Formats: sequence, structure tokens, C-alpha cells
Amino acid sequence: MLIVNTVSELRCTIKTWRQAGERIAFVPTMGNLHEGHIRLVTEAKQHAERVVVSIFVNPTQFGPGEDFDSYPRTETEDQAKLAAAGADLLFLPAVSDVYTSDAKTTVSVSGLSTIYCGAARPGHFDGVATVVCKLFNIVQPDSALFGRKDFQQLAVIRTMVRDLNIPVDIVGVDTVREASGLAMSSRNGYLSVQEKQTAAQLYQTLCAARDAVLVGKPYAEIEQLSLRTLQAAGFKPDYFAICRSDDLAKAGSQDIQLVILVAARLGKTRLIDNIAFSRAM
Ligand code: PAF
Repeated sequence: MLIVNTVSELRCTIKTWRQAGERIAFVPTMGNLHEGHIRLVTEAKQHAERVVVSIFVNPTQFGPGEDFDSYPRTETEDQAKLAAAGADLLFLPAVSDVYTSDAKTTVSVSGLSTIYCGAARPGHFDGVATVVCKLFNIVQPDSALFGRKDFQQLAVIRTMVRDLNIPVDIVGVDTVREASGLAMSSRNGYLSVQEKQTAAQLYQTLCAARDAVLVGKPYAEIEQLSLRTLQAAGFKPDYFAICRSDDLAKAGSQDIQLVILVAARLGKTRLIDNIAFSRAM
């Protein structure tokens, strides 16, 4: 696996692959890789001859007081995992390789970026959209893979790609879970052993809510009950919302393709998860 730090080195390698007629699949990450990321790389290999992975802890998607400084940086372990998974190139830029100090452009997907996680983390999705757009321009991949665990992020990126005519095929990949049901996340490392056991209740609450939707219980009642269940377990929920999966608007009784989104704090860790399903009419 090649490891490159600069945009010019990256472009040089990609040019030779392109000249050989090879397609490129791209997996952007912030490192501290877990099985969910490795699944993205494995899936990427089905889409292209070459797989490029980036590790870049993007400062613009962290708000004041968030965990940018303490975000786990585990480059040596990450490199070994990516090489074992069969990635062809790891792009490891410095902040100054991605952002010039006088940068004046931000990509903002209106509406979608200010609800749910966007309301709890103002500016977060502008940071995500901007860096993903920049990475797409740098790598110019044919396809890019993102985990469905970050459902709202995936919706923001799909909308950006559609609205800006970015010629990249966006592939969503299913969430990888621990045996307990807890969605794998780089931030799970912040949880104590006790908190990790409690954290599994996030997915259990989502499953119970989905079952309640499927037997026809009123959505507002399900949301309120789920919030109370999480609070009783020790979570501080930001939101628990039954939504339409295409635009994340609040779901009504006529909607078929649904997703239930949740974000909740457990101790000092903010966890997000979701469950997508279709409701037969
Ligand atoms: O999901 C992530 O790890 C990040 O938000 C992403 C997409 C790599 C952008 O920094």
C-alpha cells in the first residue's frame, strides 16, 4: 500500500492508474479504524480496480469545545489494517495540504444540515460537505463509500453530489455492529465498560420503536416513549425522530420508506444510530 501526504503525489499516482484504464473507489475517513471502516474498504474493492483511503481529522467539522484535539489518532494501527484489507493508497494529508489559511469557500447543503445532528452541532455538516467536496476534487474517484450509520451525513453528501453535478457514485454501506447491537464507532473508545453495556440499549430502543411503527402505534407516542426509555437507562438524548428516509422530513402515516434517527449522550460520549425500514401499506 502506498502512503502519500501531498495532493501532488496523490494526483501523480492516480494519473498513472487512470492511464491504465483503472477505476478508483474512495473511502474518506478520520482514522481510528474499526470493522465498519474495513467493511467500506472491502466493499470498495468490488467497485473499482484501485481503492484510495484518506485519513484526515477534519477540523472544520468540529465545533468549539468538541473533541477535535482528543479525537483518537492511531495511524500506525490504521495503516496495518488498511494494508491487510487490500487498500492501494492511503492519503494522509496535513491540515495545510487540505485548507489554505485564507480559504473563502464553504459548501453548505441547506435544510438537511441544520436539523437533528446539525441542530445539535451547528456548522458540523458544512465542515463535512466542504471537506468531502474538496477530497472528491483531489482524488476524483468514480465511486465513494460511506457508512449508513451516519445516515444524515450520507443524505447531506448525496444531496451535495446531486446539486453540484459531482460525477461520483455514492455508495452507502450497512452499519457493522457489535454482538450487543452497538454500532461500531471510533467514539465507542470513549465509553467505560459499564457505559458500553448501557450503550447497546440505543439499538434495542430503535428496534422496539421500529416494531411499534410496524404495528401502527402513533409516531409521536413512540418517540416520547423511546426518549423516556433512553433517559431511564442513563442517556441524555438530543433527538429521537421517525423520518422519511429520502429527505429526513418527519414521517406521516402515508410514508413507506422510513428511518428512525437517534442521538444521545452517555457520560461524555455522544452516540448516534438509526434503523431504516419500509412500512408495507
Ligand atoms: O464520517 C467521517 O469519518 C467524516 O465525517 C468524513 C466523511 C471522513 C469527513 O471528514
